[in-house]
Amino acid sequence: MAGTPTSPTARGSPDPDAARALYQRHADTYDLQTDWAGLDRARAVELLDLQPGDTVLDVGCGTGLCFAEILERIGPSGRLVGVEPSVEMLAQASWRVADAGWANVDLRLGLAEEQLRPDDDLDAALFCFTHDVLRSRPALEAVVARLRPEGRVAAVGPMWAPWWAPAMNVLVWYVTSEYVTTFEGFSEPWSHLRALVPALEVERHDIAGQYFVWGQVG
Ligand SMILES: C[S@@+](CC[C@H](N)C(=O)[O-])C[C@H]1O[C@@H](n2cnc3c(N)ncnc32)[C@H](O)[C@@H]1O
Repeated sequence: MAGTPTSPTARGSPDPDAARALYQRHADTYDLQTDWAGLDRARAVELLDLQPGDTVLDVGCGTGLCFAEILERIGPSGRLVGVEPSVEMLAQASWRVADAGWANVDLRLGLAEEQLRPDDDLDAALFCFTHDVLRSRPALEAVVARLRPEGRVAAVGPMWAPWWAPAMNVLVWYVTSEYVTTFEGFSEPWSHLRALVPALEVERHDIAGQYFVWGQVG
């Protein structure tokens, strides 16, 4: 059950209860609040190099803001699995799916580390603005274990700008602190993912305090 929202810690592990509390508050206005990130979401999906018929996992899918981009690429023969621990965020995602009449979307309520099944056989996994997931080894291990041998991953998100750009870091902190439960690993949010996907390509936008990463397992 969602607890009282708390401020993100600098070093702690991701806190799923605190995340549920955060997103319970944000769900109704989340799409409007994060509308500015539409092009970044589209680019992260593009980096997955999806093909018609692919099975794709949207990890921490939130309200489903990446669904249309994914479904456009995988087509009706593909399958989209969205995993999300916040009841309120997933409710928004279900409405989006019902509204659009998408029949090949499988929404699962819970943490990535709990909701994947041995027969999921994923072609690709997307981590779009999911710092908490990227800093959770159990979540990443569960996802990567379900990827096919040539499966692909892509992620986008915020990171600390260089130390000599403190004003940008104040902005990064201000925008991000409402959406993460920890700033642990915020200088290289992809570091755990790279341990599991060594061929990960990293594109750092240092001044903007943002990154894209992508790669293939195996
Ligand atoms: C900033 S939102 C991003 C939502 C969506 N991907 C987007 O691009 O708008 C981060 C999401 O990750 C979810 N989350 C946090 N921990 C998670 C975990 N261990 N497994 C799956 N999702 C998680 C949160 O509930 C939240 O909805």
